[in-house]
Amino acid sequence: MQNQDDKLKKIISHCKEYGFVFPSSEIYDGLSATYDYGPYGSELKNNLREYWWKAMTRLHENIVGIDASIFMHPTTWKASGHVDAFNDPLIDNKDSKRRYRADVLLEEYIGKLEAKNNKEVEKAKSKFGDAFDETKFRATNPNVLRNSEKIASVEQRMKQALENSDLAGLKQLIEDCEIADPETGSRNWTEVRQFNLMFSTELGSVAGDAATIYLRPETAQGIFVNFLNVQKSGRMKIPFGIAQTGKAFRNEIIARQFIFRMREFEQMEMQFFVKPGTELEWYAYWKEARIKWHMSLGMNSDNYRFHDHLKLAHYANAACDIEFNFPMGFKELEGIHSRTDFDLGAHEKFSGKKLRYFDPESNESYVPYVIETSIGLARMFLATLSSAYDEEKLEDGSERTVLRIPPALAPVKVAVLPLVNKDGLPEKAREIVKMLQLDFNLQYDAKDAIGRRYRRQDAIGTPYCITIDNDTMTDESVTLRERDSMKQERVRIEKLREIVGQRVSMHTLLQQLV
Ligand code: GAP
Repeated sequence: MQNQDDKLKKIISHCKEYGFVFPSSEIYDGLSATYDYGPYGSELKNNLREYWWKAMTRLHENIVGIDASIFMHPTTWKASGHVDAFNDPLIDNKDSKRRYRADVLLEEYIGKLEAKNNKEVEKAKSKFGDAFDETKFRATNPNVLRNSEKIASVEQRMKQALENSDLAGLKQLIEDCEIADPETGSRNWTEVRQFNLMFSTELGSVAGDAATIYLRPETAQGIFVNFLNVQKSGRMKIPFGIAQTGKAFRNEIIARQFIFRMREFEQMEMQFFVKPGTELEWYAYWKEARIKWHMSLGMNSDNYRFHDHLKLAHYANAACDIEFNFPMGFKELEGIHSRTDFDLGAHEKFSGKKLRYFDPESNESYVPYVIETSIGLARMFLATLSSAYDEEKLEDGSERTVLRIPPALAPVKVAVLPLVNKDGLPEKAREIVKMLQLDFNLQYDAKDAIGRRYRRQDAIGTPYCITIDNDTMTDESVTLRERDSMKQERVRIEKLREIVGQRVSMHTLLQQLV
């Protein structure tokens, strides 16, 4: 598969064709940036969530889970800073009437300059071969130097304008860079305005009684406001963590790239409460723990990298992203943030309630510091499919599309296939289904030639197919076919549960983390 753009398109159409992801309310032409998960998609999503949840709560005796509501008291979002500061700087094009994020237009402009530099480097590399010294070339080539200076200057001015909320400065920078509407080429821009990303609605059925409330833009605040409830009811001792998965909503302006950026999505977040002064040690601990979780899935370590935040949010004293090599390039998959005592401190101030921990060992009481790990479930879903999707040329010249999903996450674990639809084979296959259905999500399929049935299972990522043939009737054995190697082995029926169980169990993944 050569072209990455192409790959995303193929994944999107594969997801639709095989029931992983559909555009939301498609019969009404869909609603932008919202998607529905189909039969296989919801299984895969549940498995990803389960793996995250078990890794957090089962493998750490000091982490417990909660399930807070989506609606919260509106003051929550005042305290968290979302009412005042959860904004995107937007600019409209007067001719095309299209709306863009000003910072994204500038980042794309920088991206183009970087691409130009990379092209120059590639050209020189192929010209000079082994003798090529890339560092020296970048430091001396006039074209590359000119572009690099431009990049540094635009970055510097953008950072300054964003930090100072200087919207006129952002507009000026867009004009100075001669940035045009990517769709139409027009440079007729409005002023830049701030746009809050929270969805609001009204509580209360009587007119006049209504209060504005928000759909939560992150699940984290449900954890912070429950800090004392959980600590006291569970007699938790610091350090301890609270995990939560659930929906979050953001009125994203640039909602593109399939399920990567949506307006309604699920987060899997964990807030780890620590003694002030120990937070950077725990930050390092969680960076390592989270990358280990990703590595356990075997989705090629080259596809991951850490990206440290250069510009820290005012409440953080360290932050990084785990980036994944999506078909659109390396992009944020998960965030790990050292959030100091900002959130609990702010909720203390706004609620007037003490949110402190009394440390029986040191006899002191303090507002704990927090390390947060936050991953989007849809992004994890897309990462899994991007790494799993493969079009393979087989020895006989034919092709198959196969999803090499880690077996423990695969939507369907086993397909049970009678070779022919007669001679008692379907009945025997049904017996096997009955024997295995409490342990595995499985499918019975008796339609079409066996080769076509294998292809159907490959396309949804089923790691094992069990084929029942005439010999099965006498030797009580079946053929077990493995998805990736397509190797077949003969296995006794009584051994099936154990053999398949070992290979598709989530234990195998979790064991790598203990
Ligand atoms: N509580 C911290 C927090 O919400 P964030 O970086 O804004 O931090 C965390 O979001 C994660 O949520 C991201 O790394 C990403 O995986 C996911 N996420 C954020 N916005 C998203 C969107 N619009 N669509 C899908 N996933 C999103």
